[in-house]
Amino acid sequence: MSATEKCNILMVDDQPSKLLTYKEILGELDENLITAASAQEALAILLKTDIAVVLLDVSMPEMDGFELAEMIRDHPRFKKTAIIFVSAVNLTDLDRLKGYSLGAVDYVAVPVVPQLLRAKVRVFVEMQRQATHTEHLNEQLRQMSSRLLVLQDQERRRVARELHDGLGQDLAALQMAFDRIVGEHSIQMKDQLATEGRGIVLHAIQQVRTISYLLHPPVLDELGLASALRWYLDGVTKRSGINTSLDVQPNNFPRLTQELETALFRIVQEALTNVFRHSQASHCWVVVSHEATRVVAMIRDNGKGLMQETAELRPERIGVGLGGMKQRTIEFGGELRVSNLNPGTLVEVVVPLDGCGRDWRLLPRTLENGAPRSTGGRTLGPPTKKQQPSAVEHAPDTPVPVRQ
Ligand SMILES: Nc1ncnc2c1ncn2[C@@H]1O[C@H](COP(=O)(O)OP(=O)(O)O)[C@@H](O)[C@H]1O
Ligand SMILES: [Mg+2]
Repeated sequence: MSATEKCNILMVDDQPSKLLTYKEILGELDENLITAASAQEALAILLKTDIAVVLLDVSMPEMDGFELAEMIRDHPRFKKTAIIFVSAVNLTDLDRLKGYSLGAVDYVAVPVVPQLLRAKVRVFVEMQRQATHTEHLNEQLRQMSSRLLVLQDQERRRVARELHDGLGQDLAALQMAFDRIVGEHSIQMKDQLATEGRGIVLHAIQQVRTISYLLHPPVLDELGLASALRWYLDGVTKRSGINTSLDVQPNNFPRLTQELETALFRIVQEALTNVFRHSQASHCWVVVSHEATRVVAMIRDNGKGLMQETAELRPERIGVGLGGMKQRTIEFGGELRVSNLNPGTLVEVVVPLDGCGRDWRLLPRTLENGAPRSTGGRTLGPPTKKQQPSAVEHAPDTPVPVRQ
């Protein structure tokens, strides 16, 4: 049940005329009204349907309302279903206590005051709606934290691998060089080994620097997203041989909040890791544009593209990479879209700047004037055989520059 979905209200009474009256009274609430003429019928409906509130006649022939309420409560699914007892006779406090001991309940006396019944049902329906909504949010939270744990674990493995395979190898080589220096008699040879050792140390220092930069590039905090991306893409080109180009709009890209800068950096980093691991591309183009109300990041490669199911981000077809990118985007109220451009893959991220993602103090004057930036129409890389509709809609009167 979502905030806009209708709730089911079950009305149980053995007298059809009373059911009709309740229908009349509750029709105004614009929820789904379901009727049952007996306790058995009510139970059968409850087993098949999600019911938010049960309106229950206390005195029915085969099974009275309290007995039915007890049976309802015995079922784990209905532990929290709200029940309103309708009673023609004056209920004693003991009777009421019996009802209260069964959970969320209320009482309405006959003759029913329409406004009162409506108000009571409305309160329970709203409570039920809130409860379902909270449950839904809790479920999302559970999923997010388990995804986070997977991501954390992956990251740890990656760092462990890099430390072991990279730095570990250098240190082992250094130890061997030292051992040989100790056992060596010729001064000339000792000098040569020391020079070799120095080279290994320099390499190890470089590795530590790279690992620590990749874990969290200090340039991201000091100079912001554009500089960090420039530095990162240069590194990718050097390490992988894939040509990369970065187009940042506007040139004096403003600072965003630390959280949003980190999220966008990680998304581009993850997309580039995928280009390197999966695409067999020779080129990759990255465009990041800061517009009046949103930030857009597009990453395109000219590789082999991906499966339609992966582009649709079907959970069974994506790993923690695309999953994490999607999660980060959603956390900022944004949208992630992946398309197969045939050839190549395009990843688009749009994050709205609704005040929480934007550091207003550092915004350039032009944007505070509200002048819309029309970078949404940019495309990346060479023309494609089959250009898919973009998640970043094109501004109608903006020329679309094509970068080669
Ligand atoms: N740029 C790309 N080019 C080709 N295939 C890609 C690209 N990006 C992602 N994929 C495909 O999407 C899949 C899921 O990616 P991801 O969620 O990052 O998980 P992982 O990289 O761990 O496999 C990859 O296994 C790959 O098949
Ligand atoms: Mg990946």
